Amino acid sequence: MEVMKPPSACLFLFISLLFTTNILAADILPGATLSASNPNQSWSSPNNTFSLSFTTNAQFLAITYHGIPIWKAGGDPGGATDSTATLHFLPNGNLQLLNGSTNSVVWQSNTAGLGVTSAILDDSGNFILKNGTVPVWSTFNDLTDTLLPTQNFTVKHILRSGSYSFRLLSSGNLTLTWNDSIVYYNSLLNLSMNTNFTSPSLSIQSIGTLSLFDSILSSPVIMAYSSDYAEGSDVLRFVKLDSDGNLRIYSSARGSGTQIVRWVAVRDQCQVFGYCGNMGICSYNDSNPICGCPSENFDRVDPEDSRKGCKRKVEISSCSGRETMLQLDHVKFLTYPPEVASQVFLYISMSACRFNCLAGGSCVASTSFSDGTNMCYLKLPDFVSGYQSPALPSTSYIKVCSPGMLNPSASSIGIEKDNGWKLSGRILPIAVIGTILGVVVLQGGLWWWCRRNNPTFGGFSARYEPLEYASGAPVQFSYKEIQRATKGFCDKLGEGGHGAVYRGILPNGNVAAVKQLEDIELGEKNFKLVIATIISTHHLNLVRVIGFCSERHHRFLVYELVKNGSLYNFIFMSNEWAGKVLNWQYRFNIALGTARGIAYLHEECRDCIIHGSIKPENILLDENYNAKVSDFGLAKLTNPNDDKCGTLRSVRGTREHVAPECPADLPITSKSDVYSYGMVLLEIVSGRRNSEVSAQANWEKLSLWAYQEYQKGNLEAIVDQRLLRHELDMEQVMRSIRLSFWCTQEQSSERPMMGKVVQMLEGIIEIDEPPAPKAALERSVSGSSRTSSNVNVLSTSRVSAPAFSSSSSSHANRASS
Ligand SMILES: *[C@@H]1O[C@H](CO)[C@@H](O)[C@H](O)[C@H]1NC(C)=O
Ligand SMILES: *[C@@H]1O[C@H](CO)[C@@H](O)[C@H](O)[C@H]1NC(C)=O
Ligand SMILES: *[C@@H]1O[C@H](CO)[C@@H](O)[C@H](O)[C@H]1NC(C)=O
Ligand SMILES: *[C@@H]1O[C@H](CO)[C@@H](O)[C@H](O)[C@H]1NC(C)=O
Ligand SMILES: *[C@@H]1O[C@H](CO)[C@@H](O)[C@H](O)[C@H]1NC(C)=O
Ligand SMILES: *[C@@H]1O[C@H](CO)[C@@H](O)[C@H](O)[C@H]1NC(C)=O
Ligand SMILES: *[C@@H]1O[C@H](CO)[C@@H](O)[C@H](O)[C@H]1NC(C)=O
Ligand SMILES: *[C@@H]1O[C@H](CO)[C@@H](O)[C@H](O)[C@H]1NC(C)=O
Ligand SMILES: *[C@@H]1O[C@H](CO)[C@@H](O)[C@H](O)[C@H]1NC(C)=O
Ligand SMILES: *[C@@H]1O[C@H](CO)[C@@H](O)[C@H](O)[C@H]1NC(C)=O
Repeated sequence: MEVMKPPSACLFLFISLLFTTNILAADILPGATLSASNPNQSWSSPNNTFSLSFTTNAQFLAITYHGIPIWKAGGDPGGATDSTATLHFLPNGNLQLLNGSTNSVVWQSNTAGLGVTSAILDDSGNFILKNGTVPVWSTFNDLTDTLLPTQNFTVKHILRSGSYSFRLLSSGNLTLTWNDSIVYYNSLLNLSMNTNFTSPSLSIQSIGTLSLFDSILSSPVIMAYSSDYAEGSDVLRFVKLDSDGNLRIYSSARGSGTQIVRWVAVRDQCQVFGYCGNMGICSYNDSNPICGCPSENFDRVDPEDSRKGCKRKVEISSCSGRETMLQLDHVKFLTYPPEVASQVFLYISMSACRFNCLAGGSCVASTSFSDGTNMCYLKLPDFVSGYQSPALPSTSYIKVCSPGMLNPSASSIGIEKDNGWKLSGRILPIAVIGTILGVVVLQGGLWWWCRRNNPTFGGFSARYEPLEYASGAPVQFSYKEIQRATKGFCDKLGEGGHGAVYRGILPNGNVAAVKQLEDIELGEKNFKLVIATIISTHHLNLVRVIGFCSERHHRFLVYELVKNGSLYNFIFMSNEWAGKVLNWQYRFNIALGTARGIAYLHEECRDCIIHGSIKPENILLDENYNAKVSDFGLAKLTNPNDDKCGTLRSVRGTREHVAPECPADLPITSKSDVYSYGMVLLEIVSGRRNSEVSAQANWEKLSLWAYQEYQKGNLEAIVDQRLLRHELDMEQVMRSIRLSFWCTQEQSSERPMMGKVVQMLEGIIEIDEPPAPKAALERSVSGSSRTSSNVNVLSTSRVSAPAFSSSSSSHANRASS
């Protein structure tokens, strides 16, 4: 900086002294200084309404109105000064604010060489640098966070406070923006306006109206009223963008030194983006917004300031595949333009919403709405802003490294523990699958990258964006691609209800099962509609559909390849085939998984789907022997006109699994699936085919034969003999057998809904004594009352059951509700 020469230094001292006295309320001349170490020093407006000085704790150089700062040099927090800072009105016309300790420039007006001859703080609160009488620079044009009466706020101006900014658009809209990107408030306050403005300007009138001026308007349009509008005689009203990101109108009676909020732009403070920092969750205690962290997996960035947000204790990048989704009830992650436009919106169930984020490598959090829309969005950028309120019909998920932890101090963010943060009960399988899918996505990404960067690589069309695999957007393959993937249909995996299934290798290197769809009468458009439904249906216990092909009569569905093949092989083939017998725990989990998958199809996904062909061949097992139901939604392909729940007719299923009402051409309902499920459940327990039993047991149905044995108390006769060699959870066995009888009731109205089946199997709902599966047997049922008493499964168990484990009910899972 400039070195002052001794003679002129004397002059400055003299002038400074003059201003220190506060008597000379006139032009301030170059050379004047203000010093933070002398808090009595100030430059005031002619009638002492406003003054420019260092604030009492010397943190800022500010123009104040009776102690209330209305302009801060350099803004907040950029203009923070130390206790020995000085303001210099340099002879070259520049206004410079220096920290005393380091002599570094905190802020300057950049008015050197503009011919500035004097400065004045006028009675409207405007500090002006002038060349003669011509204003060169003013605080009304170089504003910080406050707008005063008589100040014109145009499209060129911006109010700033921290990461927040306020703007007037040429459309007349008022916007609040976070980080100059996320627009969390955009309002055309007087909605009757529909005008193209030429040069709109906004101004707060002294009586308390926020008005919009424009040359094409005959009179100003009032955008907002201060609640004390036109009251009081000597009240200053001003607009301020506060550090919490909200825009408010304040009023302050002269000399009172207090300010009262009279209007606020965003009524719900928690809707202000980023109010609680990255990954912070905003909620309310009685009336104040407070900030918390999602769980014990997080630390506050600044223990002293909850608004600075939260950080993971373990970064996702160092998770080594142990990612999981922490479930946050009644929480949403805020989403605003322009993010909204680029965001992935899906219409899927909660579990699929969680799963999609877990599987999507770049997704950090997701929000699912349980308000009937089933809307789900995935948050990709690494800044998420949460809002928690008991009134929010949404559930959110945030990615953490497992184990996800509960928040023991949940009350610190203003919620009770009971309705607080719950952890997903299915972390492990999700983590495993998530990892696998993560690798899949990564591979896809690599392949895509290679292809992008090497036009000769592969030569496939640009439809395989990695995101599409993750987001569930349909991937369309050409027939040529299908041919290439299956090497000309050489590797046949099996024959399904609609045609052959082939092994294929996708362009991204993934192995897939390619299912041919024959005799599809649907036209291209309807076919795609059905496919869209199938593809948008995601659940852990449903085989994932990766894509499809529809080219003339060539129709294919491309599925993920499920490693261990169908359940059929494991329960019906000889031991040699699989090399092992599935033990009871595996079987029970398969039964449960299958029930969850079907329950999801029936009750949770957007377009209710009746499977119509539940049988062991259609239940596939992944590498951990988790059930994945296959072939769902295909019934619609052959029944284009009956696509509503409850009206589907003519089902292709293996006869023995088909509900009795089907041959009679009665309307098929989801209860037909329940029947088929009951049959499968019994087959899982007994390891016997329906037909096989029929031969043994006088051609009676498996369920009838089993019911007779059940009545005799002969459970061990029903159970697969190979299972008896090992320990069995007889309580689960009993539950499964009883449930299978309920599911295979002749009258479909007697059968439970699939959601209830899940809960019964889990042990959440007690299972009443079942009636005989078929009316003909009723004579043998003692007291054949169908409204049987609530007998506890345990008390009637004729087999000594192992100690009751309460774990099944404490694992109550969302999928069942
Ligand atoms: C500031 O003014 C107060 C009262 O007017 C006076 O007591 C104090 O000494 C002054 N401080 C300085 C540094 O001049
Ligand atoms: C001036 O000092 C304050 C208080 O120590 C500090 O926060 C600020 O960063 C400093 N500014 C510059 C430009 O050195
Ligand atoms: C300042 O004002 C004078 C007279 O109006 C003018 O001649 C001069 O060019 C101005 N200085 C600058 C730097 O604009
Ligand atoms: C100070 O000046 C402003 C603007 O000129 C005026 O509105 C206000 O009434 C004046 N206050 C006093 C106490 O003279
Ligand atoms: C604000 O704009 C109005 C009309 O556009 C104008 O009359 C007034 O002088 C302007 N005030 C300031 C401080 O620029
Ligand atoms: C704010 O925006 C800038 C540029 O648009 C970006 O680089 C930065 O990461 C953003 N900050 C946060 C916290 O997202
Ligand atoms: C202005 O605000 C209205 C109402 O909030 C909104 O519908 C419109 O899209 C906004 N216009 C612009 C250009 O942002
Ligand atoms: C505003 O301008 C746009 C294009 O400049 C024009 O299409 C539109 O009709 C105009 N609206 C009004 C209300 O004049
Ligand atoms: C909205 O604007 C119209 C005309 O521009 C005006 O008549 C009406 O009073 C305004 N409404 C409010 C609430 O200011
Ligand atoms: C709510 O939070 C505010 C700010 O953290 C605190 O001052 C106030 O005491 C809290 N109120 C209750 C009832 O906890």
